Amino acid sequence: MILSSLTKTSLTLIVASFIVLLTQTPSVESHSYADCIDWRFSNKKNSWSDKNGACHGYARRFPVKAKAFAKLDSDWPNRHYQQSRSSKDSLSALACSDGKQGKEPGADETLGKPVTSAYSGKDKRGRKTGAMTQTKPGGQLCIRWPAKNHAVKNEKNQPVTIALSGRNPSKDPTQKQFLNNVIAKLDYKNCTDKGSNTDIWPCGGCFKLPSNLKTGYYSMQWRWKLNSNEFYTSCADINVRAKK
Ligand SMILES: *[C@@H]1O[C@H](CO)[C@@H](O)[C@H](O)[C@H]1NC(C)=O
Repeated sequence: MILSSLTKTSLTLIVASFIVLLTQTPSVESHSYADCIDWRFSNKKNSWSDKNGACHGYARRFPVKAKAFAKLDSDWPNRHYQQSRSSKDSLSALACSDGKQGKEPGADETLGKPVTSAYSGKDKRGRKTGAMTQTKPGGQLCIRWPAKNHAVKNEKNQPVTIALSGRNPSKDPTQKQFLNNVIAKLDYKNCTDKGSNTDIWPCGGCFKLPSNLKTGYYSMQWRWKLNSNEFYTSCADINVRAKK
């Protein structure tokens, strides 16, 4: 037998190297989400790290203090919503997670009634939720997300799309409707502070809202393609106010 020829020491070595492998190989199963909708850099470093900026607006019912940066995908409920893969290009999938549907249901990110109820309050578990994004027509927004190991060299750089609803929606757009109003395409791998832990690299993208937006509330969708027909979304509302 092969096993019987192995000494105790070599077995121990094999087990030990396995453990090292397990803890050092980045998990390909971790998935991303929009961590901040209105990120503002606080200095010229233009870094997405908490040390060099702050978040002023969040996705719906975002538990701001629940976990360290990049760790909400293992929150309960988890913060990555993978849309259903049943249709060819996920067009029939729910655009914003209801916490129940999808390949991997996420947290409840449906439109609040009223819209403000998804912000600056408490989530279902009584945890503090983040503020809503306040902006203006033509305003710039910088959105942040964690790399979750997918911004490394050997991964294909798949786009993030940002889409908007019409003004003051009474329900969220369908995925098809969102795709008819994509206002920005962002570079998933635009990360900074690239330390050895590729899971927690902070990444993000900046874009300008259309300058002809009327004041009001809009639903906004962050949608990231990981593989063909594999999409993750996060939903937020933005309050577009008159230019001062
Ligand atoms: C990439 O990130 C930097 C911050 O490091 C940001 O200033 C820039 O706008 C981002 N680029 C794009 C195309 O979003």
